[in-house]
Amino acid sequence: MSALETLTQIASEVSKCQSCALHSTRTLSVPGEGPADAEIMLIGEGPGANEDAQGRPFIGQAGKFLVELLAQAGLKRTDVYICNVVKCRPPGNRDPLPDELAACNLYLDRQIAAINPKIIITLGRFSMYKFMPGVTISRVHGEMRRIDGRFVIPMFHPAAALHQAALKPAILADFAKLPQLLEVARREIAKTDSQPVRPEPAGASPAQILPAPEPQVAKTEEPKQMKLF
Ligand code: URA
Ligand code: SF4
Repeated sequence: MSALETLTQIASEVSKCQSCALHSTRTLSVPGEGPADAEIMLIGEGPGANEDAQGRPFIGQAGKFLVELLAQAGLKRTDVYICNVVKCRPPGNRDPLPDELAACNLYLDRQIAAINPKIIITLGRFSMYKFMPGVTISRVHGEMRRIDGRFVIPMFHPAAALHQAALKPAILADFAKLPQLLEVARREIAKTDSQPVRPEPAGASPAQILPAPEPQVAKTEEPKQMKLF
């Protein structure tokens, strides 16, 4: 099956799914949307009221803000695949529960396998925990890590940034850095692709932290060229 066929098949299963309690309160399930061969996949939390009504991810206020954030990084909404960790709306926009996350994770894993994105941007805590269990978002937001051959960048959730004024400058700054991170990720992947594949040594840490590049400006010297590592 092609990636597109797999995604279509998943969307069809999700539309009828009753694997967790969220099926009984949803209007429409929200499987996700975007190119089947997207280089970048964005994973949010779960549908809100607008998404539940229309069956599409990130189309309300948070979605509008997300489009602005993507534009800041030179990306269009249609360039990326966008989905959520749970495909049906948690009532009242409550947090998804562990059994709901576990049930719906099967779909998310199949979507990731089909799309095979180089870069995954997690939006909010719940999608971040899938890749980095136990980390604190305020410590790691905007930092790129290599996990299972992909690059994962945890970002604050755009809705959280809309509701908590203190987070807004941070999410804007993180998305402003995204073009540089994408460049690093693409370069690293090109290097790996041109090398013979070697197995990881036993006990190797699964996550290699690649800090966000910062301009290196020494106080007493002329500004140097940006250093990425
Ligand atoms: N918030 C999310 O996490 N996902 C959506 O699809 C919309 C809002
Ligand atoms: Fe199925 Fe996911 Fe919807 Fe639960 S949230 S009913 S697992 S599609």
